[in-house]
Amino acid sequence: VSPPLDVSQLRAETPGCERVLHFNNAGAALPPAPVLEAQLRHLRLEAEIGGYEAADRAAPACERAYAAVAELLRAQPDEIAVVENATRAFDMAFYAFPFREGDRILASEVEYASNYLAFLQVARRTGALIEVVASEDDGTISIPALRASLARDDRTRVVALTHVPTNGGLVNPAVQVGKACREAGVPFLLDACQSAGQMPLDVEELGCDVLSATARKFLRGPRGVGFLYVRRSLLDRLEPPFVDLHAATWTARDRYELRPDARRFENWEGNVAAKIGLGVAVDYGLRLGLLAIRDRVRTLAKLLREGLATLPGVTVRDRGGEKCAIVTFDAKARRAPEIRDALRGRSINVSVTTVTSTRLDMESRGLEDMVRASVHCYNTEEEVKRFCRELATLL
Ligand SMILES: Cc1ncc(COP(=O)(O)O)c(C=O)c1O
Repeated sequence: VSPPLDVSQLRAETPGCERVLHFNNAGAALPPAPVLEAQLRHLRLEAEIGGYEAADRAAPACERAYAAVAELLRAQPDEIAVVENATRAFDMAFYAFPFREGDRILASEVEYASNYLAFLQVARRTGALIEVVASEDDGTISIPALRASLARDDRTRVVALTHVPTNGGLVNPAVQVGKACREAGVPFLLDACQSAGQMPLDVEELGCDVLSATARKFLRGPRGVGFLYVRRSLLDRLEPPFVDLHAATWTARDRYELRPDARRFENWEGNVAAKIGLGVAVDYGLRLGLLAIRDRVRTLAKLLREGLATLPGVTVRDRGGEKCAIVTFDAKARRAPEIRDALRGRSINVSVTTVTSTRLDMESRGLEDMVRASVHCYNTEEEVKRFCRELATLL
C-alpha cells in the first residue's frame, strides 16, 4: 500500500507545471526534476571526462534501469532490453518470429499504426495473413471472438494487442487475452506504450510474452528511449532481425553467438543519459505507487470527461468500460488541429490524434481526427476546470 499522493509536492517537483497546463501526457509527460537532473548530470560528466569513461562511472545507474523496469513489470532484469522507443522495441521482437506463408497474425481493432505497418510488411514479404479480431460494442477486443479465432485455425503465430490505444481512454482486457493465448499456446505481444506508468503492469498476470513501452509518456522519462520485455522461455527461440557486436559475439570467421539475455535485441550505441533517466523515472513512479497513480489519473480524466460533456457541440469519444487517463473529443465549431493550436497559445498542451494512427478504429467510427487531452497525477482539478473554461471560450 502506497501513501496517498501529495499533489503539491508532485507539482513542486515538476518544473514544467509553472509554465504550462500540460494535458499531453500521452504524447510526452512533463518529467519530474530528478529525471531531468540525472540526465543533465550525466551529460556534464560526458563533456568533462569523456563519453566512454562517463558510461563506466555510470554503470550502476544504467544497470538500475533494467532492474527498475523489471520491477515495474514484475519481470527479471535479464528479460529486459533498453532500446530507442516503443516501436523499435515491438519490432525487434515481432520481426524475430519466423513467419511463413499462411501463418496468422491476430490483432485488435485499435492497433497502433507503427505496429500494424510491421504486420503489413511481414504479410507482404512472407504471405502471412493478418486477421483483425472483432471488438465488443464498447470498442474493447472481443474475448469470445479471439477464442473462436484461435480455435478455428492452428496457424496463429502471434496475437498482438494494444493495451491502451493511442486514440482514446479504453483499456483492453489484456489479462483475458493473455489467458486465451496461454491456453492456445500462442505468444502474446502486448503494446503497453500508453499503459506503462499510468497503471500497474504484471507480466505474469497479463500472461504476455513480449511487452513494449516507451519512457516519455506516462512514465515521465526522457524522449528517445524505450524498452522491451521478452519472456525468458521465448528468448532462445527469437533471432533478432538485426545483430551487432553487443547483441552477439563474433566467435569464428563464419560464426556468431547471440547473447543469452534480452539485450540481444539492443544495439551497442545508445543514449546513456536517457537510459539513466529511464531508470530514475521508473523508480519515481514506483515510489509513488502505480495504483495511486492509476486512481488519481482516472479521477481527473473522469472529471474532464464530465466537464467536456457539458460544453455545447463537444463530443467525448472515449470508449470502453474501464477508462484511463486519455480523453478524446471533437467539437462542431472547430477542427482538432485548430483547437490544439489555439490552446497552445494559452499555454495549454494537448495533441491531435488522426485516422492514420489507428486507421481500423477511426474508420469504423467515421472519425478523421480528435483532440487528445491526457492527464497525469501532477495535474489538478483546478486545471481540469480551467481547461473546460478556456475551451468553452475558444469554441
Ligand atoms: C499505443 C502506442 N503504441 C506505440 C507507440 C509508439 O511509441 P514510440 O513513439 O515510443 O515508438 C505509441 C505512440 O504514441 C502508442 O500510442
